[in-house]
Amino acid sequence: GDGHHQELQNKIEKLLTTLPREYIHGLPHFQYEGAWYPSMAVPGVISSQQLFQADESDIILATLPKSGTTWLKSLIFSIVNRNRYAPKDSPLLSIHPHDLVCNIELEHFRDGVPQHLEQLSRPRIFNTHVPYASLPSSIMASNCRIVCVCRNPMDNIVSYWHFVSSIYKSFFIQPNPIDELFDKYCQGVHYYGPFWDHNLGYWKASLEKPKNMLFMTYEDLKEDIHFQTKRLAAFLGFPFSKQEEDEGLIEEISRLCSLRNLKSLDINKRGLNKLNLPVSAYFRKGEVGDYANHLTPSMVQKLNKVVLQKFAGSGLVL
Ligand code: A3P
Repeated sequence: GDGHHQELQNKIEKLLTTLPREYIHGLPHFQYEGAWYPSMAVPGVISSQQLFQADESDIILATLPKSGTTWLKSLIFSIVNRNRYAPKDSPLLSIHPHDLVCNIELEHFRDGVPQHLEQLSRPRIFNTHVPYASLPSSIMASNCRIVCVCRNPMDNIVSYWHFVSSIYKSFFIQPNPIDELFDKYCQGVHYYGPFWDHNLGYWKASLEKPKNMLFMTYEDLKEDIHFQTKRLAAFLGFPFSKQEEDEGLIEEISRLCSLRNLKSLDINKRGLNKLNLPVSAYFRKGEVGDYANHLTPSMVQKLNKVVLQKFAGSGLVL
């Protein structure tokens, strides 16, 4: 009830004053349970841990920002709703992917209280940026499905920098060069980082619980979208039938969700999404290896060293 919510709010406010803080790219971040969060995300992270009620049919998309969130939101929505909407009538044609599938901590629990949960159709699809160890306890206790998409850290940091820069530009603020953001990224001090905790947490969980956890990579999706879309659908419990496959439905869905298509839609070109961020900032180049155009060889060497050291022995290659 309200009393309980108020009590939780008070606890969160008290906790906030005790958390380590850092300014990253000019924005305040807090460290909570080992991860760095933009300050506006923290109340939602803490309250959703306690208040989010997972359903067995829920689908949780777990991502580090700039790893393929927009792509997977679109693909998952299209796969599980393909009997409600044919690709040509898809809500994706008129709604930004981030307004179609929302983030637990940033949107559903933004002010510390649950919101916008009632109107969701089943299966519900959610996104979260928290690391595996910080997922709401009801997700851990349920059998719901978790999909994680990870991306090579070099491309991840470059994409992150472009994203932050384009937001700055939309508010007529001169963006900073990549250097400072890059150094902090290597130390794990970034938006929902350290990236190694995020990637390794979900990677290990996928090995331990393959029925509940699917681990995907941006690079694999780029390499063979047909195969990965099929694999994703099968994991979600919505496998494509022989007939659907013969009719070209997999191609149709992957074309609908492609960067080229989504980027070309008016709805994704102008204006702000529900998070008040420019909708166009989510669609850029979508290439593997773009980091070579933005990082110096010594930066590449430095981050490579961190990656090799952190991922050593895990079997994870990104
Ligand atoms: P680049 O900045 O390298 O172009 P997220 O969706 O997690 O915020 O990640 C954004 C990155 O995914 C950006 O990468 C963006 O261009 C790319 N992206 C967005 N939509 C995509 C899609 N439908 N298919 C492939 N890549 C996409």
